[in-house]
Amino acid sequence: MRLTKYFLPTLKENPAEAQIVSHRFMLRAGMIRQQAAGIYAWLPLGHRVLRKIEQIVREEQDAAGAQELLMPTIQPAEIWRESGRYDDYGKEMLRIRDRHEREMLYGPTNEEMITLILRNEIKSYRDLPKQLYHIQWKFRDEVRPRFGVMRGREFLMKDNYSFDLTPEAARHSYRQMFLAYLRTFARMGMKAIPMRADTGPIGGDLSHEFIILADTGESQVFCHKDWLETDVLSQEVGYDDDLAPFFDKYTSLYAATEEMHDPATCPVPATDLVTRRGIEIGHIFYFGTKYSKPLNATVTGPDGETVTLEMGSYGIGVSRLPAAIIEASHDENGIVWPDPVAPFKVGLINLKAGDGDCDRACETLYARLRAKGVDVLYDDRDQRPGVKFADMDLIGLPWQLMVGPRGLKAGMVELKRRATGERVELLPEDAVARLSA
Ligand SMILES: Nc1ncnc2c1ncn2[C@@H]1O[C@H](COP(=O)(O)OP(=O)(O)O)[C@@H](O)[C@H]1O
Ligand SMILES: [Mg+2]
Repeated sequence: MRLTKYFLPTLKENPAEAQIVSHRFMLRAGMIRQQAAGIYAWLPLGHRVLRKIEQIVREEQDAAGAQELLMPTIQPAEIWRESGRYDDYGKEMLRIRDRHEREMLYGPTNEEMITLILRNEIKSYRDLPKQLYHIQWKFRDEVRPRFGVMRGREFLMKDNYSFDLTPEAARHSYRQMFLAYLRTFARMGMKAIPMRADTGPIGGDLSHEFIILADTGESQVFCHKDWLETDVLSQEVGYDDDLAPFFDKYTSLYAATEEMHDPATCPVPATDLVTRRGIEIGHIFYFGTKYSKPLNATVTGPDGETVTLEMGSYGIGVSRLPAAIIEASHDENGIVWPDPVAPFKVGLINLKAGDGDCDRACETLYARLRAKGVDVLYDDRDQRPGVKFADMDLIGLPWQLMVGPRGLKAGMVELKRRATGERVELLPEDAVARLSA
């Protein structure tokens, strides 16, 4: 993509409304623009990050055996009456009337709808287990939407729902998602710690929140210091293995949210306990028959008996993640995207647009990189180098490839790693080889 063509409205000044660094940088880097309180448009750069994140989430859900579907954002009120949640949900629910005065709502979550879809279609224990997920916009009329997309009113969530015959099978589904979440966040370059959590209005008896440690986090969290060193991607365990040993191992290391933490009973000595702020990026629940019972979702068991489905639900805050990642990965000049979620891999900077040699060298590099499938943002603007460096640092692409008249005289270009600031001079063809490796 050429920057002269790209819609990238960056801002030099810090917007007054942004209280935390991720919100500031998302506005300044032209990723999002607010349309109403807690409701955002995703501009092209932000949208690319959102899509990358979504894709990692999707791949790991699929690997775990979950199947993607798509349910609507608008739901009829009656299914929430059936489950008994319509009145309980209160003012967070955006209630809508259609032209026939039918009561509708903008879905804050989908337990009712998915349970009814399953109820009407599956009849036998042979149809189980099932895990179904979608990545869809939700609306919750938060009292205090704030911090940009971190706590929005409209936000994108991946929500998965598991259906099993027995509590033990349902626990296996829960553990599969526990593993999928650890992997999903690690693949994004994030350390997310699963913490024992309160089940809240979703209900049930087993729940973990996946938390990124960051000073601007909304809640206080507590964990054993060994969590900071734990590497989850190295775990050699498959989704269809017996996951109990793996799950027991990871849950034996203490980690709890404020609601669940009690200093009086905490097993970790004070010297080993880390107390930090945290951002919730995912939340998983096992709640048994809480919805299947009122909604009458049953199957016929192996002996002909009627069995009420055992369920769990599993959310990831897809549109919160770009902000959470920025909170965990930035410096004073801007965002530092982890490679897997970066909107482009490399920013190609023409230090003297209009200069024949620079233009030619950049065009060649741009074409070669693209031919190798590398996502390049080419800064071909007629601007001072200082402006280009500042914008590139702000938007945080992992690599910057700089082409200037002085280097070119010696046949060289310069490659900078955004995260470390490390720079090397190298031949253009070596730069292409390094970036496409
Ligand atoms: N208002 C919001 N804005 C952005 N993301 C949200 C919001 N509410 C929830 N999320 C994300 O969706 C995930 C699942 O939501 P859930 O646990 O049901 O919500 P909550 O924690 O607000 O009760 C959360 O872990 C969080 O990452
Ligand atoms: Mg939650």
